[in-house]
Amino acid sequence: MTNKFNFHHYKLFTFSILLSFAFISCKKNKAGKELDQELYEMAQETSGFTWYKNSDALLEKSAGSGHPMPYLRTRYNATAANFLDEEGKVIPGTIFSEGSLIVKELYDDPETISRYALFYKDSDNEYSDELGWVYGYVEANGDVASPSKNKGGSCIDCHSQSGNIDRTLMNNFYP
Ligand code: HEC
Repeated sequence: MTNKFNFHHYKLFTFSILLSFAFISCKKNKAGKELDQELYEMAQETSGFTWYKNSDALLEKSAGSGHPMPYLRTRYNATAANFLDEEGKVIPGTIFSEGSLIVKELYDDPETISRYALFYKDSDNEYSDELGWVYGYVEANGDVASPSKNKGGSCIDCHSQSGNIDRTLMNNFYP
């Protein structure tokens, strides 16, 4: 009787282990999508941000831009804004600290925001690169333009060009 009881417990134990594995791997598969959703929500938050060069005016995209939309403007959350000088430009040599969020709003025409491009410093994130950046690229309607789980694969080469500051390029192209 005791043996049977133990065996039953053993089966229950194995079953719960299997269940947790299934749960963990399911969570992992979903993590990429959830991250894009999270970044999308973060991008839409505007309070507490500082604009590049302290101006919310739309800028015409630069000659070096890999972003197709003709207009843009870039803002920094309170953590990232610690690394802006009085003019609102990024201080040379900056390594943005954890929690820094930089959002570039991209516009098809001056009235219509069409996409968000984001850099988010979150070193512990499984989708961050070796500098700790998580890369988001999401349409204004929430569709994913380039999944964050690509770890900036389509962004990093261009954003590592000479003169970049911790992979950011606004200073280069809007001095
Ligand atoms: C071919 C070059 C190129 C590629 C590829 C590119 N970018 Fe950019 N990006 C720029 C340039 C140049 C700027 C400066 C503003 C502008 O002209 O668009 C910029 C600005 C930004 C900014 C504003 C912060 C800053 O100072 O750089 C963010 C955020 C950003 N890009 C995110 C991304 C993401 C995310 C990807 C990949 C999905 C990406 N970029 C791909 C060239 C590129």
